[in-house]
This record gives sequence, structure tokens and C-alpha cells, in this order.
Amino acid sequence: MPSATNVLDLLARGRELVDPQLRHALDRLDEHTRLVATYHFGWCDEHGRPTGANSGKAIRPGLTLLVAEAVCGSPEPAVPGGVAVELIHNFSLIHDDLMDRDTQRRHRRTVWAIWGDATAVLVGDALACLADEVLAECNSPYAVRAGHALAVATRELIRGQVLDVAFERRDSVSLPECVDMAAGKTSSLLGASAELGAILAGADAATCEAFRTYGWELGLAFQIVDDLLGIWGAPEKTGKPVFSDLRAHKKTLPVVWSLEYGGAHGRELAAWFTETAAPSEDDVRRAAALVEDAGGREWALAEADERVRKAGKALDAAGIAPANRDQLDQLAQFIAERQL
Ligand code: IPE
Ligand code: IPE
Ligand code: MG
Ligand code: MG
Repeated sequence: MPSATNVLDLLARGRELVDPQLRHALDRLDEHTRLVATYHFGWCDEHGRPTGANSGKAIRPGLTLLVAEAVCGSPEPAVPGGVAVELIHNFSLIHDDLMDRDTQRRHRRTVWAIWGDATAVLVGDALACLADEVLAECNSPYAVRAGHALAVATRELIRGQVLDVAFERRDSVSLPECVDMAAGKTSSLLGASAELGAILAGADAATCEAFRTYGWELGLAFQIVDDLLGIWGAPEKTGKPVFSDLRAHKKTLPVVWSLEYGGAHGRELAAWFTETAAPSEDDVRRAAALVEDAGGREWALAEADERVRKAGKALDAAGIAPANRDQLDQLAQFIAERQL
């Protein structure tokens, strides 16, 4: 991709490359499924009238395309990979909002909140199938390898989501268990996003693995920041409500760290989780303050930085030209510092 002044420009350029193929893929859907999917992508309102609403940050296709450019000098061979990872991502979001019973995403009502549970399940499933089709039909000699890597990552994402939901009902979750859950639900797809860029650009196996590790570590930084934004983020920037994780008793990374290492504040937080079944606004504010006082916020910020450092270290093995390396480092930094 041509040089861009900042990461948002880079991501916007990536979106320009994948959106036409994404829209083309959605055109194959039946009328109702297409309407709902098009709404979810921010391209129309719930009645089908065209809008320019938020389509998401496009971090995953951005990763795919930047990695391909770093490997072969052009993002082009990896465009179907970018389309496929964005389809899998959006399949997971539509299902995730249903599972989390969240009614807001990207500043708009979620699919299940408008059309109901069955539609959310079916539209999510349809997007996952389209991802397979796009890769299977692309004219790349590496399509089968890319499809396999994405299937493995999607299975891993589902494993992470299974744990995420199961942990809501558990009194105690260890930090390694929580990291494993977050790695499953988020690192797997960011890892695959980077890996697909390398695969489709024709990189050797060791280079593909180095990029997968880069994306995987970034995924953990990404989820840690997502957990922080779920407590201290600004809904007008994130487009998602705050405190819904605490209300649902989600065992997020800053929470689990606080419960395990937060001393007296951590013990108070543990009591909050057992005693507060249907928390009020004041209750969730108190829990947020306990996470902060326990040191969970500070730990999470430091851990996100550490994951970005590890992501960078993984790239050292990939032999990338300085200008491409700079873009990948900038993307990593953006993920750790993002407010949206
Ligand atoms: C949200 O991902 C889901 C997580 C894995 C935390 P993004 O924040 O990348 O979602 P969009 O696509 O930009 O809305
Ligand atoms: C992120 O789930 C992981 C997937 C969607 C696979 P979360 O529930 O943590 O993310 P948000 O905050 O709803 O986007
Ligand atoms: Mg969620
Ligand atoms: Mg969730």
C-alpha cells in the first residue's frame, strides 16, 4: 500500500481494497440475510436504506494486507485473505453480541436486538461460509493452505468463546486460564490474519510462523485493551457500552489479575462477584474502582505493552524492509494505545 501518514489511513486504505470483494460476497446471500449483513457492516440502515455508518476498524484485513506487502511488495495477492478474515471476524461479532446480550456495537443496535436470536445465528453462520467460499475460489496457489490456517484459527476462536461464557459462572479462574481464553477468542484470528498475508504472498513456512506469532501477541494486547475499554472506555468513541462485562460477571484479564494478585482490594472484588447477582450502576462503579485500586488496570496496561514488545521480537526473524517494519510497528503501537 502507498505510504500513509498514520495507522488510521493505513487501515482505511486496506478497507478500500477489501470492501468491493466483501460487498460482492454479500451479494450472494438471500434477500433477508443480505439486508441484515449489510446493516451489520454499516452500509445500510435496518430498512435497507444506504448509510455511511461505522464498519469497524478493519484491523484484521489491515494486518493481512500489510504483512503481504512486507513479504512480496504488494497487498494484492492477499486481498481474498483480508476479505475472509473480516468475514470471520464479523461472524464472531454477531454471535458474540447475542451470547453477551449486548445491544450496542459500532454505535448502533446489534443484530439480535433488532431481528432476534435466530437471525443472528443464521447471519453469522452465513458470513462464516462466505469466508470459506472466498478463499476456495481465489486464484492463488496458496488458497488451500490459507483456508486451512483460517479454519484452525476459527476453531480456536470458538474454543475461546466457549471458555469465556463458561467462566461467567465460575467463582475462580486463574490468570493462565484467562490468558488461554483470551488467546483463543482473539489472538487466534489476529494471528491468522497476519499469517494469511504471509501465506498468500508466498512466504516460506518459518516466515509465516513469525508473522502468525506477531499477530497472536498483538491479539492478546488487543483483548487486554478491549477489556480496559469495557470498564474505562468512552462509549462515544468505542461505540459499545461500558460495564457490561462487569454486569455479566465476565472474567476479563484485569479482573482476573486483580482477584489473584490484588490483595485486600482483590478479596473485596471477589466478595462483590459472589454477592452482587444483579448489580446496580453504583455496584458496577464500585467494582471498577476495586479493579483500579487492586492494580488491575496498571497491570493490564503494562501487559499490553509487553505483548507489543513480544510481537516486535517475533518480527525480528522475518527479515522485513525498514519501511514495512515501521508500518507493522505502528500498527502494534496503535493496538496498545487505542481508545476506540
Ligand atoms: C472487537 O473487535 C472484538 C474483539 C476481538 C475484542 P474490533 O474492536 O476489532 O471490532 P471492529 O471490527 O473494529 O468493530
Ligand atoms: C471478543 O469478544 C471476541 C470475539 C468476538 C470472538 P468480547 O465480548 O470480549 O468483545 P466485545 O467487547 O464484545 O467486542
Ligand atoms: Mg462481547
Ligand atoms: Mg464476548
